[in-house]
Amino acid sequence: MSGLFLHCRAGFEKECAAEIQQRGGETGAAGFCRAQPHSGFVVYEAGGPDDARRLVETLRFDTLIFARQWFVVLERNSALPGDDRVTAMVEGLKGLPEPAGDLFVEHPDTNEGKALSRLCKALRGPLKGALSKAGLLAADTAIRIHVCLLDGTDAYMGYVPVVNSSPWPMGIAHLRLPRAAPSRATLKLDEALLQLLPARERDRLLQPGMRAVDLGAAPGGWTWQLVRRHLRVIAVDNGAMAPALLESGLVEHRRADGFGFQPPSPVDWMVCDMVEQPMRIARLAARWIGLGWCRHTIFNLKLPMKQRYQEVRRCLDAIAAELQTAGVRYRLACKQLYHDREEVTVYLERTA
Ligand SMILES: C[S@@+](CC[C@H](N)C(=O)[O-])C[C@H]1O[C@@H](n2cnc3c(N)ncnc32)[C@H](O)[C@@H]1O
Repeated sequence: MSGLFLHCRAGFEKECAAEIQQRGGETGAAGFCRAQPHSGFVVYEAGGPDDARRLVETLRFDTLIFARQWFVVLERNSALPGDDRVTAMVEGLKGLPEPAGDLFVEHPDTNEGKALSRLCKALRGPLKGALSKAGLLAADTAIRIHVCLLDGTDAYMGYVPVVNSSPWPMGIAHLRLPRAAPSRATLKLDEALLQLLPARERDRLLQPGMRAVDLGAAPGGWTWQLVRRHLRVIAVDNGAMAPALLESGLVEHRRADGFGFQPPSPVDWMVCDMVEQPMRIARLAARWIGLGWCRHTIFNLKLPMKQRYQEVRRCLDAIAAELQTAGVRYRLACKQLYHDREEVTVYLERTA
């Protein structure tokens, strides 16, 4: 078969499918999606034999919002022998375009999928050995092998260019919740900084002494991430902030409405986790960037239950229109992060 396997958050298969269908269509690929609700993955069946390969070579993975990880499918084997899955897997991977440098053995991110994680771990070593023996693994090559188990006898197998994929199995960045952080929401900003800022620019973009505003800050999980990096933060929220944060000397708490707040002078960063209609938040962020109130912003768009892909697109289009009218150049990245629930996270930077 010629197709793509895409991991996504369980419950967001429709959005992931709509997105790859639209983005694939824009590159001239004709395909259709198989997506079971709450399966945690989508399979895009490409029209032509080379369409899937062409898609991973033309579409930039970091521009996809709902796909956490992806790979070109070489084979699906739904009858893996329980006593020797490895030989069947090696057979399924013989169509690799070149030897691969690494191997991810994965499962969908669902409760049923998690039950396979021990089997995935157990298979990795023997499979690596057998792939090496078959000449399908080599050092320092451009592609990585993916095997995704759906159950003990059923797996998709394929490969992806390393530079155009997530560096983590299933696209999941496992982050530890720091004990001192005031809320679990802290992980969202931690992951956003990791996923949405280019690695080589992260230190330059987040320097000690920079100034930030956190809209909807209480109890302070996002502020905590900024303070941890030694930024000075104005935390805007009518709710209470964690006392330890206020004692850091780096946080000023303003009990005010995030939509009416204007910084006393331009700041480096504005972050926003207010629970509000996504379009209101998108317009607010575009205003901050457009007016030069901040240079960088990270914000969440909380999604309604229906038409979630369309709603995200509407919000991103509104940002584009507003900044175009203002003559502002920008860079934007949007992703549904592992720590996001019914929401996506956006990074927006004013570049000129
Ligand atoms: C999801 S919580 C934020 C959690 C925070 N990011 C953290 O990591 O601890 C949303 C916050 O937005 C605040 N909020 C909602 N609407 C607001 C508004 N119009 N102005 C200021 N804060 C608002 C709420 O009071 C609430 O504390």
